[in-house]
Amino acid sequence: MNRAEPATDAYGTVMAELYDDLLAPMAGDTEATVAFLAALAPGGRALELGVGTGRVAIPLAACGLQVSGIDVSVAMVDRLRAKPGGGAVTTGVGDFGEVALPGPYDLVYVVFNTLYGLLTQDRQVECLHRVADRLRPGGRFVVEAFRPDPARFGTAHADRNGGPDRLDVARHDPVAQTLTARQVLLTTRGVRVLPVHMRYVWPSELDLMARIAGMRLVSRCGGWHGEEYTRDSDTHVSVYATAGG
Ligand SMILES: C[S@@+](CC[C@H](N)C(=O)[O-])C[C@H]1O[C@@H](n2cnc3c(N)ncnc32)[C@H](O)[C@@H]1O
Repeated sequence: MNRAEPATDAYGTVMAELYDDLLAPMAGDTEATVAFLAALAPGGRALELGVGTGRVAIPLAACGLQVSGIDVSVAMVDRLRAKPGGGAVTTGVGDFGEVALPGPYDLVYVVFNTLYGLLTQDRQVECLHRVADRLRPGGRFVVEAFRPDPARFGTAHADRNGGPDRLDVARHDPVAQTLTARQVLLTTRGVRVLPVHMRYVWPSELDLMARIAGMRLVSRCGGWHGEEYTRDSDTHVSVYATAGG
């Protein structure tokens, strides 16, 4: 795969039917995620990049926000639409690195490492530019992602056990900051092989990308409960504002 290519539907094609049972429980605390996001834009307009099956978007809409979501996977979006409350979320199918984003928004968010789905630094910076363009003055952009840990990735191939039901086989390219992995999921519905391609971003790199796009870091926590971000944090929740906001 050319790493600069637009995103594909490969993830959703394999995962849509299993996502809520298998992957969603590995995401951050959804209730806390929704409370955190809702507090940033009470009653406002929000956009989720990589909305998936609506794990966050549906309960956020139930808090009174007007929520839209974009996802490249038809299968994932179909799941969202079929759920109770799914009709309250306006959905679009497309690559959030490519499609014209509507707007303006009070809040744009991308959670559960989904920003890393853009596979080059250029595409990630371009995405932040487009987000900044669609935010209202004072609007917020929120990113949740794991903090890269090269010691865990290794330098070539890394085989690591992701738990009793999962085996990850990953190739790490420390120059491009990419991980190309196969997650082998042992499910009661059979074995599923999940293709994962991501370009991870250092938190300091993300801050610089945001500045290039005209935003500044407002806060960074180690989780959705406002945990302090420390050297031991595995993940970060970073909030950016447009300049002057
Ligand atoms: C890990 S899931 C997260 C789903 C949802 N945000 C959540 O937290 O439950 C990542 C989602 O992002 C979508 N995705 C990844 N890269 C994308 C891109 N460049 N454009 C649109 N959707 C993308 C995938 O299809 C998938 O549904």
